[in-house]
Amino acid sequence: MIPADHPLKNAWDLWVALLTVFAAVEIPLRVAFALPLTPLLLAVEALLSISFAVDLVLHFFTTVRERNGLIHDRASIARRYLRTWFVPDLLAALPVAILFPGATYGLQWTLRLGRLLELNRLFKLAEVAERLRQERRHLLANPSLIRLAMFFFWMTLGAHWIACGWVFIGGEERVGSVTLTYLNAVYWAITTLTTVGYGDITPDAPLEKVYTILVMLTGVVSFGYMIGNVAGVLENMDAVRRDQARKMDRVNAFLKYREVPAHLRERVQGYYDHLWEGDFDHDEAAVLADLPTDLRLDISLFMHRGLIERVPFFRDASEEFIRDIVLLLQPRLLLPGTEFIREGAVGDSMYFISHGEVEVTSGDGRTVYDTLGPGSIVGEMALLMNAPRSASVRTRGYCDVYVLAKQDFLRVLQDHPNFKAYIDRTIRRRLGKITARRTK
Ligand code: CMP
Repeated sequence: MIPADHPLKNAWDLWVALLTVFAAVEIPLRVAFALPLTPLLLAVEALLSISFAVDLVLHFFTTVRERNGLIHDRASIARRYLRTWFVPDLLAALPVAILFPGATYGLQWTLRLGRLLELNRLFKLAEVAERLRQERRHLLANPSLIRLAMFFFWMTLGAHWIACGWVFIGGEERVGSVTLTYLNAVYWAITTLTTVGYGDITPDAPLEKVYTILVMLTGVVSFGYMIGNVAGVLENMDAVRRDQARKMDRVNAFLKYREVPAHLRERVQGYYDHLWEGDFDHDEAAVLADLPTDLRLDISLFMHRGLIERVPFFRDASEEFIRDIVLLLQPRLLLPGTEFIREGAVGDSMYFISHGEVEVTSGDGRTVYDTLGPGSIVGEMALLMNAPRSASVRTRGYCDVYVLAKQDFLRVLQDHPNFKAYIDRTIRRRLGKITARRTK
């Protein structure tokens, strides 16, 4: 069996999709203008049939992605395919133009009705569109943008088909070249579809009038749908940035109302700028809260992999320990110069430094005892020894840290003696330095 997401299968799907779009453009044009099948187009017809036939056979050997996982069982895959897209795919693979080569019955449209059979290839478009709809969810691009692109694709193809239909029923006299006639037909299709209706090209025969009425009705519905859709899509396109702008407005209004001085205002604005740098509003908790526990755990493990690699103890720790601690860590961004631990205060949490540097200082902040970088821990002493904070700690630049609350810290220590030994070693080393400092 071929896995549904195999890169070669993906490349094949892309090839089939491109061929299908080509057929959806070329065949209506050829049928409408009663164009002859040149040797090159004949070869393309053969290629279409072979490719669609291979695709049909491949369907029986490709695993199917379903809501409950992958289906590997060949019998149920075949049953499923026979029930759904088998017949349209089979019809689309038939080489009608090759089987009935003399199908140019003259320029009169009634004589050319037989050629409509060549539109059998369009069945494939329905299947490709369905496959694309399923794949769309896996794309990381802005969903609104993809929707807008798909919408314009269908609009363009629709206008092309309507223009071809107009030529087919004889609405557009074939004057001069095919290109000029086609241009006139597209012009008619778009002025009618968009309800602009200049009226310089008008229907004469009853059938042309019926066709025009249908196109006008289609136009009213789809144009209204399009306007509504485009407005909605544009509105949603930058949902994150719009939310950020709204939040910033609220924050600014608050700062103004409270008459916060300029230097503090700048720090607040700097904080949000830094927070939103990656186009993400850091509402990780809200996103994660929606996920089931095991998935949340795996995402947390992935998100914290940088920290896990940096903290020496985590690198060698058991998987069980990592799993226990990872969901308890709360990410926090600290501004430059923030004193987040104050000497003598009561300690309620400890910190793992992920990015940036902190300085361990005396209570007045004048003497720097030590500088700690990514992977270091701070604030563990007060928690374990049940004592006031032994020093002050402040950030140098922006600093990403993970906070572990006191009760969580003590619980993890209890459950994992190795972690306790590591913390004990760190504390002993630091206490040694503190004693050395005091005796100086
Ligand atoms: P705590 O006492 O909770 O608060 C201050 C923190 O500074 C302390 O925990 C240690 O994590 C850290 N600290 C204290 N002294 C040193 C030192 N000499 N070197 C590195 N870190 C220290």
